[in-house]
Amino acid sequence: LQTVPPLQLAEQYFHRFPDEADPIWGNPCADHRHMQIWAKEKSCDQLPKFLVIGPQKTGTTALYTFLAMHPAILANYPSPETFEEVQFFNGKNYYKGIDWYMKFFPVPANSSAKFLFEKSATYFEGDVVPRRVRALLPAAKLVITIISPSKRAYSWYHHMRAHSDHTALLYSFHQVITASDTAPRAVRSLRNKCLVPGMYARHIERWLNHFPSSQINIIDGEELRSDPVYVMNDLQRFLGIQPFYNYTEHLRFDKRKGFFCQVVGEDRTKCLGRGKGRIYPSMNESDVKYLKEFYQPYNIALEKLLTKLDYPVPSWLEEDLQ
Ligand code: A3P
Repeated sequence: LQTVPPLQLAEQYFHRFPDEADPIWGNPCADHRHMQIWAKEKSCDQLPKFLVIGPQKTGTTALYTFLAMHPAILANYPSPETFEEVQFFNGKNYYKGIDWYMKFFPVPANSSAKFLFEKSATYFEGDVVPRRVRALLPAAKLVITIISPSKRAYSWYHHMRAHSDHTALLYSFHQVITASDTAPRAVRSLRNKCLVPGMYARHIERWLNHFPSSQINIIDGEELRSDPVYVMNDLQRFLGIQPFYNYTEHLRFDKRKGFFCQVVGEDRTKCLGRGKGRIYPSMNESDVKYLKEFYQPYNIALEKLLTKLDYPVPSWLEEDLQ
C-alpha cells in the first residue's frame, strides 16, 4: 500500500473517476453524518423552498415581484452581477459552492417569512440544472411560466436590441431565426437564445426526469398578464402558503403601462420598469408563419404533455397549433 501527497492523490483519483470531476452539491441535511460536521450556525432553512425557473421573457419578473409582495414569502438578496437573479445552478456560480448560494438568503432566525425563493429564468433550459437542483433541493417546488414560443422569441430579440447587442442591431429578426448552421457564430448564438427556450416540452420533460409532476407548477404567462390575481391565488394554493394573501387589493391594472401593477396608494401604482412590457412593432406575417411551422412539433408535444399533467390547454397554444 502506498500513498502520495494530496494534490497527486486527487489527480490520480479524477483520472480514474473522470465523471466525478464535475461536483454535484448534495443536501447536507439529507445525511446525519454531514449534519454532524456542518458548522452549528448553518441550517437547511437558509435554502429556498421554491424556485421560479423561467424561461426568460415569459413574465418571470412580474411573477417574482408579485411573489415578493406576499408577507410570508421572501426573495433572495440581489446579486451585484445578475441583479435579482442568483443564477447558481447554471454556469460558473455553481462552482462557488453552497455557502456562496446560502449567503443570498437570510438566516432563518432573522426572518419571519417562511417561504424563501429565488427566480433565475436561465434555469429552465440548462441541461445540467435539474440534476443539480434535485441534489441540493429535493423537496423544492418549481414554477415555470410559458407563453407562445414565437412571441417569446420575438421578445428576446427586442430585449437584445434594447441592450444594444451588436448582432441584434445588425441582423433582422427574420435573418436571426432563419440563420443556418453556417452563419456567423454570434448569429447562431442569438438564434439559439431566441428559439431553444421555447421548445418547452423538451425542457419540461427533462425536469420531469428529476422531479415528480406534483412539485412542478406550469403557469400560463398570458393568464399571469391578464389575470394575475387568479394566477397568484392558484400559486399560493400550490405552494401551500399561509396566510392567504388577497392580491385583489394589491394589484391593479394600470392603463398607462397596459399591465397590472402593484398598488402603493389610493390612486398610485408601482409598475415594472421600462424594460418590461416594451413597445415594438408587431411581428411580420411571414415570421409568424415560419415560427408556427418551426415550433409545431414542440407545440404538439406540449399540448400532449399539458393534457397528461391535467392542465388546460392555453388559448395561445390552440392558436399556434391551428
Ligand atoms: P415584453 O417586454 O416583450 O412585452 P421576463 O420578466 O420574464 O423577462 O418577461 C418580460 C415580459 O413580461 C414582458 O415582455 C411582458 O410582456 C410580460 N409581462 C407580464 N406581466 C407583466 C407586468 N405586470 N408588467 C410588465 N410586463 C409584464
